Amino acid sequence: MGTYKPLNLCTCKPFTMTIKQKIEKLREQINHHNHLYYVLDKPSISDTEYDQLFRELKKLEEENPSLKTEDSPTQRVGAPPLKAFKSVIHKIPLLSLDNAMNDEELVAFDERVKKGLKKDKITYVAELKMDGLAVALHYKNGKFIQGATRGDGQRGEDITINLKTIRAIPLTLSEKVDIEVRGEVFLPYNDFVKFNEEREEAGEAKFANPRNAAAGSVRQLDSKITASRPLSIFCYAAEINAKSQFEALNYIKKLGFRVNPNIELCDGIQEVIKYIKKWEAKREKLDYEIDGIVVKVDSLEDQKKLGTTSHSPRWAIAFKYPPMQAATVVEDIKVQVGRTGAITPVAYLKPAHLAGVTVKRATLHNEDQIRRLGIKIQDHVIIQRAGEVIPEVVRVLKDKRSGKEKEFHMPKKCPICGDDIVRPEGEAVSRCVNAECPAQVKNRIRHFATRSAMDIEHVGPALVEQLVDKKIIKDVADLYLLDQATLKKLERFADKSAKNVLDSIQKSKSRPFDRLLYALGIRLVGSHVASVIAKNFDSIDKVMKATEDDLTKVREIGPKVAQSVVLFFKQKGNHHLIEKLKKAGLNLKAAAPKGPQPLKGKTFVFTGGLEKISREAAQELVVKLGGAYSSSVSKNTDYVVVGESPGSKYDKAKKLGVQTMSEAQFLKMVKG
Ligand code: IVH
Repeated sequence: MGTYKPLNLCTCKPFTMTIKQKIEKLREQINHHNHLYYVLDKPSISDTEYDQLFRELKKLEEENPSLKTEDSPTQRVGAPPLKAFKSVIHKIPLLSLDNAMNDEELVAFDERVKKGLKKDKITYVAELKMDGLAVALHYKNGKFIQGATRGDGQRGEDITINLKTIRAIPLTLSEKVDIEVRGEVFLPYNDFVKFNEEREEAGEAKFANPRNAAAGSVRQLDSKITASRPLSIFCYAAEINAKSQFEALNYIKKLGFRVNPNIELCDGIQEVIKYIKKWEAKREKLDYEIDGIVVKVDSLEDQKKLGTTSHSPRWAIAFKYPPMQAATVVEDIKVQVGRTGAITPVAYLKPAHLAGVTVKRATLHNEDQIRRLGIKIQDHVIIQRAGEVIPEVVRVLKDKRSGKEKEFHMPKKCPICGDDIVRPEGEAVSRCVNAECPAQVKNRIRHFATRSAMDIEHVGPALVEQLVDKKIIKDVADLYLLDQATLKKLERFADKSAKNVLDSIQKSKSRPFDRLLYALGIRLVGSHVASVIAKNFDSIDKVMKATEDDLTKVREIGPKVAQSVVLFFKQKGNHHLIEKLKKAGLNLKAAAPKGPQPLKGKTFVFTGGLEKISREAAQELVVKLGGAYSSSVSKNTDYVVVGESPGSKYDKAKKLGVQTMSEAQFLKMVKG
């Protein structure tokens, strides 16, 4: 894709273009790229090119305020905070859906529909039931004019300025129509996990699940907060003149709305049941949460014939998947100390079966969460597992109390090192103040050695435990001073195992600078942020000299991250650590490309387990040979390397026509 050149904006006489025309052309281009990126998931230009367009439009609008309009893509960044939301009456109520909990109830629904329509077989549309927040979007003449929450179905809240910040909601449609479209706003699962981790690190209360996070984000009086959250939407209904639901969905897709790609037409209820079974098995692989399947009669004429009751349509039903919840007993509550000193209370449970696994522990997040739930030791509770997060306690069954339950109090002293535990004002997280606390030290070293950090294969949690307890090492740099004789003195260590450990430590010295930066475990610096920092400050010396100002100048680095980086390098102990790492010969500079670069310009995505090589090593190889890797498949992906039990990325690659290859083919390619 060529780079954007301002003078070539328009194919028609560039020099006679007025500022207004220039602005309009830029808006059109940005809207087009927003649609490709956020709705179709198929970007066609780079982030930098997109930013160039955006900045140019912003500049022109600032220089010409009279040309600013409400529907400009620059208006997605948020507006001044509101005091309260206005209430909106829905012209057509947002009904809820009747539920079916099993196949019999679905068949009974099908019988009712068939009877009502006097037909023997019905065509249904089966859709995933997103677990988010329902909204109604109003467009006049193709422009977004108002968006509201569902509220009680009759009356909702006007959240237009917040919805405008969601890039997947088009501000201008491809046709100048008046239309109301409904959809579900949600937070993609991985974004939710990342967002919660950042909140925890920043001492803020975590959200219990993606649904609450999405609802909380959309109902912010300050739309700048909404703008900072990675929300998206799937639209599923519109009041239009079409023959069928399926046709209506295709039409709104054409208008520019994001419609879930997994919608299927089913001939008869048995096909619907197959669809439900298929997605029950696959739902954990989706990047968003669904709580069931919505089944709708496809023909809109038939829908009209069946009509609605006062609260739900007779032509649709929601099949609810059983919640991934279980009841058990909290046998004890203990606290864990993380690598940044964060203290997390953990419930030790009577073992319970949940979504196919035995659960013995559940996180209680923080002190406030314990108070909110009112949880005591020996309480009967409901636990829940959402995707891959460790299970959490969601509810106390208070009527099962015997009176013998005990209150839990957050300890004042760290259970590991005995130093003080403090909870800074305004933060939800309590921390052990002692950076030398063995629990913190162990967790920092464990983090350093993990696959996504320095990938030190033979340095696992148990070895770290021994090395720290025996005072053989006290920081990550000490790993590089280990020798055969010292290791052999440890339990169950022979020549071979000691050699393995030393070899894998030696190998880790060649990890690139960005991985090392991530491995240091700086608060709020995840692997992505680390690679952004390494790209912009190409050596540890430059990172150490950077001020908060220097750091926040980089796109994607916010003030909190900047503050955390500066704070980390202010500490004398960390200076000393860096010196030790330098001496050990680690990569403290971003490497200039060396050797042949045959993969230059090629982007790889890996899915499924690789056998001969770790995913991290494969990614490193790609980078070494000039290529890039990404965690998600898009039109810009050149190759998807498919390992054992591939995930949804494989399906996406097939759909987008991206070339796939086996691990063996990949290895052959990089060897060649
Ligand atoms: S159709 C009158 N389709 O589920 C029919 N709803 O319990 C209205 N939902 O509040 C809903 N995904 O927020 C429909 N594909 C989908 C949906 C969906 C999620 C939510 C929606 C509604 C609730 C109904």
